[in-house]
Amino acid sequence: MIDPRPVGPVGPVLCVVGARPNYMKMAPIVRALDRHVPPLAHLLVHTGQHYDKDMNDRLFEDLDLPRPDINLEVGSASHAVQTAEVMRRFEPVIDAHRPACVLVVGDVNSTLACALVAAKKAVPVVHVEAGLRSFDRTMPEEINRVLTDQISDLLFTTERTARDNLAREGVDPARACFVGNVMIDSLRAHLAHAVPAARTLARCGADAGLTEDAFGVVTLHRPSNVDSPGTLAPLLGVLAEASRRLPLAFAMHPRTRRNIEAFGLHDVLEDARIAVLPPQGYLEMLGLMSSARLVLTDSGGIQEETTALGVPCLTLRENTERPLTVEQGTNTIVGSDRALILRTVEEILGGGGKRGRVPELWDGHAASRIAERLHDWLAERAGARELACEVA
Ligand code: UD1
Repeated sequence: MIDPRPVGPVGPVLCVVGARPNYMKMAPIVRALDRHVPPLAHLLVHTGQHYDKDMNDRLFEDLDLPRPDINLEVGSASHAVQTAEVMRRFEPVIDAHRPACVLVVGDVNSTLACALVAAKKAVPVVHVEAGLRSFDRTMPEEINRVLTDQISDLLFTTERTARDNLAREGVDPARACFVGNVMIDSLRAHLAHAVPAARTLARCGADAGLTEDAFGVVTLHRPSNVDSPGTLAPLLGVLAEASRRLPLAFAMHPRTRRNIEAFGLHDVLEDARIAVLPPQGYLEMLGLMSSARLVLTDSGGIQEETTALGVPCLTLRENTERPLTVEQGTNTIVGSDRALILRTVEEILGGGGKRGRVPELWDGHAASRIAERLHDWLAERAGARELACEVA
């Protein structure tokens, strides 16, 4: 049974989440819409792209994200089927609620699917984290970013270069608004409640020689890194080598776990000082990252979180859509280059490595700026609509 919050004259803001990296972006936004004076009516729609306890439920609890008002329960499937299924199930939600706008975050399949349904129904689309580009169209997320931005009416950006990327693709810069980084709002709000790394490592039975003050953290899940044995095996090999210098806690995504099994790669990790952990909750991950000597990852969000925490990050990709983390933060792009990875680890352990600084407007208040601008924008649109009716 759906229990809609007070719906304004133009309908609620439909806030969409689908997968793990969406939750830390949406949590502060939902709170800011509630806190805004006057509050902005909204409904939280979960597409169900991520659904299990590790990937979903624990993050909702950690982030104090309210239970979704609507769950489309699409689950896992190929990109085409997953995207189509979200679209098919989201359309009746728009028909039922006649929203003022659909607000999507990030770059997952659910982001594009819901934006596309809304745009086709002439419902305004608001995209948070717009304009980031890796310029690598082999990444499914890059396709989702480019297409979502093309059909968005209001685009909130996390860094100033995003506006240039949008302008280059013909998006009117007047539709973009630089507000800072909502994911860092979540980080700042929850850091004080992070679960101490020692507790997480002990609870997960992490042996592998990990001590509280001398370990690194690993996450790996991009299809380009984990979907073929020819790429995954050497990457695991480099991690095993790096672990001889610094023991590693590897919070393993289900996709990566499944592929290690399918490709028979267990023995690559056998003698390594690597503790394999299940996907972690948000507060556990914050605790692990903030105590780590370094982080090795192919995640987008973690590049930003480590920059905000001042912890060195080695990005196991050939590019990043978040160049600010390299220019100003603690991020180094190392790809799958064995020598570069091992050299960078060595540098960091020797006291070198990037110190970085926190980028502009990554100050914990991005969501309030979004609520403010969104309120004014919706009011302007409502005013224009009334005027059009009077003239007619
Ligand atoms: C998705 C996003 C990616 C994001 C990542 C974070 C797209 C294109 N990709 O990738 O940008 O960084 O989420 O995790 O949207 N699975 C589970 N439990 C779940 C969800 C997934 O076990 O709750 C397994 C399933 O076997 C599934 C696989 O993980 O096939 C991949 O899930 P999917 O959502 O398709 O993509 P991700 O790789 O998680």
